[in-house]
Amino acid sequence: MQAITIIPRTPHSTQLRDVPKPALESVANGRGVLVKIIRVGVDGTDRELQEGLYGAPPPGFDYLIEGHESFGQVQAVGANVHELEPGDFVVATVRRPGSSIYDLIGEYDFTTDDTYYERGINLLHGFLTEYYVDQPEYIVRIPPGLKDVAVLLEPTSIIEKGIAQTFEIQRRLKVWQPRRALVMGAGSIGLLATLALILRGMDVTVLGKDHKPYLNSDLIGQLGAFYESTDKLSIAEAARQRGPFDIILECTGYSPIAFECMQVLGKNGVLVLASVTGGNRAITVPSDQINLGFVLGNKVMVGTVNANRTFFEMGVEDMALAAVEFPGWLARLITTRVRGLANYKDLFTEMSAPGQIKVVCEIS
Ligand code: BGC
Ligand code: ZN
Repeated sequence: MQAITIIPRTPHSTQLRDVPKPALESVANGRGVLVKIIRVGVDGTDRELQEGLYGAPPPGFDYLIEGHESFGQVQAVGANVHELEPGDFVVATVRRPGSSIYDLIGEYDFTTDDTYYERGINLLHGFLTEYYVDQPEYIVRIPPGLKDVAVLLEPTSIIEKGIAQTFEIQRRLKVWQPRRALVMGAGSIGLLATLALILRGMDVTVLGKDHKPYLNSDLIGQLGAFYESTDKLSIAEAARQRGPFDIILECTGYSPIAFECMQVLGKNGVLVLASVTGGNRAITVPSDQINLGFVLGNKVMVGTVNANRTFFEMGVEDMALAAVEFPGWLARLITTRVRGLANYKDLFTEMSAPGQIKVVCEIS
């Protein structure tokens, strides 16, 4: 079968190559699930892999099959798989357990191991190929009504985890009634965050780089949330006009914004940091003010990465709710479809083109 591969840590080494089709029996005890891949989305992590900044091949390989945002259909299951059957639409989780206590109890997204295993990113092959085999524990069934948008489930799961963590943390308050939320960044993660917060009844402000009107600001408006460009409305001004914010989700990929968010978070609020920032940027910050605000306001800041099966399942519920509450909205996030693995070069050029939200590769 064909696969889009990179040589990790070697910039621009992407190529289409023939790789062996995985066998159902590669998973022990009759627990294998063979999935035919239908489509795969790409994101900033894939771009960093392309640029050689990130990632490692599986042991025994010099290449890595890319792609971690999958959607496919079960083709065959081992004798001891009862959770799934051929024909089911599915999405696979990304991380696989290591050896820390968290990994052992299924909370592999909270691993404390230094080495982590992520399909399509680190030490495990991904999904920009024709088939994969995995255990049912890591494969989430998708209701057929979501088959056109379920490729967005992996990025949605990242947001679900961030929000679930926030509610978990806020149990400290005995009663927490979040009303106002700020989302920083209007890319695919920012948009999915806005949706999830709106579905939870919050008043949502979104700040991004670009001037409205454009597709992303229209999509935000359709949900009943408020969008403005940071050129026109500073974060501090937004907090005065539309805050205090009970929850802030930082999804810009630009770390200095995190420190501005710390300055505007409301009392008892939670700031969720979700941007993976690989660089070495350094800035000067008003540390006394930020520290004082956190202490006197009982504020919390939390980092969040990846998502385990539970958060994928929560994502399925939110996507189903979105399909009835805002019909057609999720589908508008998929702005470009590159047809076939052979056109892989277009995936990454399209992704960097203006006006894109989610670029996907249609595989079968
Ligand atoms: C993926 C996550 C992963 C993270 C760090 C993100 O792009 O969506 O699943 O944990 O990168 O590798
Ligand atoms: Zn990702």
